[in-house]
Amino acid sequence: MGLTHAEAVAADVADSLRPLRERFHLPDDLIYLDGNSLGPMPIATGERMREMVSKQWGDALIRAWNTHDWIGAPQRLGAKVAPLIGAKPHEVIVTDSTSVNLFKLLVAAAQLSDRPVLLSESGNFHTDLHIASGVADLTGLTLDIAPRAEVESRIGADTNLLLLTHVHYKSAERFDMEAVTRRAKQAGAFTVWDLSHSVGAVPLRLNETGAELAVGCGYKYLNGGPGAPAFLYIAEHLHERLVSPLRGWMGHAAPFAFTDDYVPARGIDRFLAGTPPILSLAALESGVDAFEGVSMERLWAKSIAMFDVFYGLVEARCPELECISPRGPEQRGSHISYRHPHAFELCQALIADNVIGDFRAPDVIRFGLTPLYLGFEDIWHGVDRMARILDSGSWRDPRFAVRGKVT
Ligand SMILES: Cc1ncc(COP(=O)(O)O)c(C=O)c1O
Repeated sequence: MGLTHAEAVAADVADSLRPLRERFHLPDDLIYLDGNSLGPMPIATGERMREMVSKQWGDALIRAWNTHDWIGAPQRLGAKVAPLIGAKPHEVIVTDSTSVNLFKLLVAAAQLSDRPVLLSESGNFHTDLHIASGVADLTGLTLDIAPRAEVESRIGADTNLLLLTHVHYKSAERFDMEAVTRRAKQAGAFTVWDLSHSVGAVPLRLNETGAELAVGCGYKYLNGGPGAPAFLYIAEHLHERLVSPLRGWMGHAAPFAFTDDYVPARGIDRFLAGTPPILSLAALESGVDAFEGVSMERLWAKSIAMFDVFYGLVEARCPELECISPRGPEQRGSHISYRHPHAFELCQALIADNVIGDFRAPDVIRFGLTPLYLGFEDIWHGVDRMARILDSGSWRDPRFAVRGKVT
């Protein structure tokens, strides 16, 4: 039968993380199971943005680069993201998008050896593969895209770089970062990790696991707002060995000297390119601040409990859905995905019923389990509404088959 409604309510009452929900703006009666795609708005963000616009941009104007330390925002935010990924504060910088950061890191890291192969996983998030193919064309590397089960065995003497997404965007499968990084290192290859579905979702220990290069997304579990800047991580010992291919003035050792020659800044700052998007960085900062006072371990423990409840309820009430996410917590991230031939229509019918998950082509419906603001009763109602939609066949209404530009 899965958890009863009364048990779900009791689980929320017993949940010490429950008050964190007050940090977020969430419309009444909306069950938001899509924080793995776009996190909700922290309440503090509204206030912060008003202050940024009226006092800082409005009144301080260009003086704010110094008076409000706009210029230090990429590093300041990097230092706030660092504890969430187990890195040192100066090893992380917030800038550009995940795609652009991937490009910069891959091109820079490719120069570290003359080996010919850039290895990645088939079915990796498509931006990673597209960026990798562009990097391969530019650098002369050969792109080898291997099925997930073969990736590790394909690492060899010819591997220059390995590009992997830690938690898979569709299935939620998680690579063993420590084991894969070690294997790549033993073979003499560098690994670039995409942490977009990991940061703020699962506990990460980049330094401890020996990870050297990573990027990640700001608008998912970090709740930074639509199109929020992304982050880039480089282990300290590689800082002076890597040079960004995007030699913008913000990555120069002395941007305000206005010299013709390019001298990369020391440390990770050299991976900045153009002027930082200050308003977007401010929104992301309050998204990251919403994690204050709570450890990733506690959040992860709640995520595991929510996964089990979701899984049990769907198994009992929606048997036509096939779970494609691993059950073991060590093998997955913080979302749960199901295959259904009409996943798109089901997703639309759910949205019409105020339950937001998302669809991933061709046949997957995906739900983000985000312990900062979701409770067990939310999950109970989400699955209850999904079971009713499936039982009644209401997803067959033709209006649920209409596809917008964003699906
Ligand atoms: C694994 C992964 N990488 C990257 C991105 C997006 O990158 P960008 O910030 O460039 O849009 C996503 C978006 O969903 C993703 O799932």
